[in-house]
Amino acid sequence: MMIQTINTNPFKDQKPGTSGLRKRVTVFQQPHYLENFVQSIFDTINAPAGATLILGGDGRYYNREAIQTILKMAAANGFSQVLVGQGGILSTPAASCIIRKFNTFGGIILSASHNPGGVDGDFGIKYNTENGGPAPEKITEAIFEKSKTIQHYKIIEAADVALDVIGETNLAGMTIKVIDAVTDYAELMESLFDFSAIKDLLASGFRMKFDAMHAVTGPYAEEIFIKRLGAPSNSLMNCKPLPDFGGGHPDPNLTYAHELVEILYGDNAPDFGAASDGDGDRNMILGKGFFVTPSDSLALIAANARMVKGYAKGIAGVARSMPTSGAVDMVAKSLDIPCYETPTGWKFFGNLMDAEKVTLCGEESFGTGSSHVREKDGLWAVLFWLNILAIKRQSVEQIVKRHWLQFGRNVYSRYDYEDLPLDAANGVIHHLRDNFTAMTGKTFGQYTIQTCDDFSYTDSIDGSISTQQGLRILFTDGSRIVFRLSGTGTSGATLRIYLEAFEPDTNKHGLDAQTLLAEMIQIAMQISELKQRTGRDTPTVIT
Ligand code: G1P
Ligand code: ZN
Repeated sequence: MMIQTINTNPFKDQKPGTSGLRKRVTVFQQPHYLENFVQSIFDTINAPAGATLILGGDGRYYNREAIQTILKMAAANGFSQVLVGQGGILSTPAASCIIRKFNTFGGIILSASHNPGGVDGDFGIKYNTENGGPAPEKITEAIFEKSKTIQHYKIIEAADVALDVIGETNLAGMTIKVIDAVTDYAELMESLFDFSAIKDLLASGFRMKFDAMHAVTGPYAEEIFIKRLGAPSNSLMNCKPLPDFGGGHPDPNLTYAHELVEILYGDNAPDFGAASDGDGDRNMILGKGFFVTPSDSLALIAANARMVKGYAKGIAGVARSMPTSGAVDMVAKSLDIPCYETPTGWKFFGNLMDAEKVTLCGEESFGTGSSHVREKDGLWAVLFWLNILAIKRQSVEQIVKRHWLQFGRNVYSRYDYEDLPLDAANGVIHHLRDNFTAMTGKTFGQYTIQTCDDFSYTDSIDGSISTQQGLRILFTDGSRIVFRLSGTGTSGATLRIYLEAFEPDTNKHGLDAQTLLAEMIQIAMQISELKQRTGRDTPTVIT
């Protein structure tokens, strides 16, 4: 074993964001950079002797190199066993599934989620605890503090380990088990959903298209949709995982998954379309010429959960991140179950799920999931929809519109302004915060501001408090605008503006969200002084 010394620790920037540490590949390639963070994880978690670690990533550029380094460090740090996905691959939900299934101590997942990959792209690393979920803030903060001061890391000197063939090897006394990356996850899905009903649907002439965006879900989709559910092979696209995701931006939204969107909005469109992101935890759901907002998708899944095998006993409660629309709140109310509002980021759902307070949770950012794992889960959401479609035998659009008829429609849109100068973006937030009192009671056309606040959250399970989680401008009719700075970007600052208006009038359910929200957008621009402060009035992405 070798103790490698980092003379004066140069790494003051290893602060994990909403979901782990994300930086450019070139940053991770600096000598000792990855090792510094990994040793900080190991020092913080203090694994007991004999502990097992799960290790895998989304296959992006630098995945293989990082895995070799982490294996050698795990051996030097006293782990007795590491389970690695074949080829170094594990989707984020599959890693969570495996951590839970084998009761391991925790896992390291290598991914920058939906951020582009490749030599000039992003890389990322996060630690998940033994419940299979992202480490809570208390742990990520401790890792960050360590990363600034540690002076050395432990690593063994050894040849690289072969990862492409399933089996066991030994590395300086530590067992490395290369496991099939797909099987455990596929089995879990089969235990939750009625595969024979979905099979019948797919055999009935119903056509689907799943876009893996050249990212990690490719092999999972082949196994589940083609092998287990009998879908024809042209139901899948971009299923070969590539280290640079084929040059694309593996984020399943209307902008970056445009290839799929064009198919679903084109001639002879299939009945159902879906996509997942870099590491397989996000999902986008489309019908023929119809987009389902993630907030509506969560509400609909909650409303129909009982008809699905794994949820037939009913759901304990639901949770959504604060910026996610209140559509699921309406469903929770009618089911008479609790609905929790948490800050942005999946880690806030973990405690609620561990305490069995909630079964389903979701975020407006294309994340939906349940307590079957402790991460959001892209393919799970796709299968949930297929299961509902298999039972209802209505179109996606019909299902959503009938849902609105019953619960009302929470019209919703998000505007992202990427790569803003940090000072200007902070300036917008400070300006709004400073004007809370002045804005309250102000009227803009049909809208009057009732209150403004800075969202803070107290975790009802462990009592931890998270402050400054987004500015909420609430209107008297229940509409709202939320302003928030992203915690996952790697260059400049990203400002997100979330717009929501409740529309009970069914005559307006046929109109598109941008038309219905036009006035709210004007108000957002006016009160934030966005254009004056950043020089930008056109968002990078509208969802
Ligand atoms: C974004 C999403 C957030 C999600 C996170 C990780 O974070 O908004 O809901 O949990 O990615 O996928 P943000 O960049 O907004 O901090
Ligand atoms: Zn992701």
